[in-house]
Amino acid sequence: MPESYALMAELSPELKKREVAERALSFVEDGMRVGLGTGTTARVFVDLLAERVGQGLRVRCVATSEATHRQGLSLRLDMTTLDELVELDLTVDGADEFDPMLRLIKGGGGALLREKIVAAASKSMIVIADVSKQVERLGRFPLPVEVNAFGFASTWRLVERAADGLGLHGDMVNRAGPDGQPFVTDGGHLLIDCHFSAIADPRSLADALAAVPGVVEHGLFLDYATAVVTNGQDGPCVIARATPQTPP
Ligand code: A5P
Repeated sequence: MPESYALMAELSPELKKREVAERALSFVEDGMRVGLGTGTTARVFVDLLAERVGQGLRVRCVATSEATHRQGLSLRLDMTTLDELVELDLTVDGADEFDPMLRLIKGGGGALLREKIVAAASKSMIVIADVSKQVERLGRFPLPVEVNAFGFASTWRLVERAADGLGLHGDMVNRAGPDGQPFVTDGGHLLIDCHFSAIADPRSLADALAAVPGVVEHGLFLDYATAVVTNGQDGPCVIARATPQTPP
């Protein structure tokens, strides 16, 4: 292993995020319409992208959250909306977990709804996730479920039942913000973080959750990632989807 990468292995999580964010820049081509993710890794990517734009790269961008939109504006990126562009060439976003089939859990930052809308509008999605996010089976990270505030307790019960039907019995927690009050998403919804530990059948869980009225979206992104950029032994590595992507 080159000495620089041996050192990298001991370096901070921040440097690992920067490594994957930098590598993802190579997927961005001049003239592209780019979806910008949310979270600490995506934030680094947006900073780096803005540097490239300063050097002459031309891109139009749509953010997956108000926070990223503000960041883009502050960096003088050409920020627009899906209403204007409708379709994007590429989205680069983080993830809380990815498994060997490049299925994801997202939503740790609470932006899962817009993240999924933007990913679905994109021809490809590059996930930037440091190696700590790699799992054999999804579920170690609590699965965020975004729900309408109306009928919250009833929706909660139906989510619990849906999970129960699949043998998933972990704790469910109403996410709180830093002020201790319920976290409210950009869409004005609430979040339930489901501590399922190991999700044996993510597809069935995704279907069961989507069938609950009141569930606005869930953090299982099963058919979205085109590739994951993560940290390998010798630097950043790209894990591409093995089979052709099926439309969500
Ligand atoms: C935001 O809602 C999330 O989906 C993030 O993409 C995810 O939580 C990864 O965030 P970090 O890059 O901060 O780990």
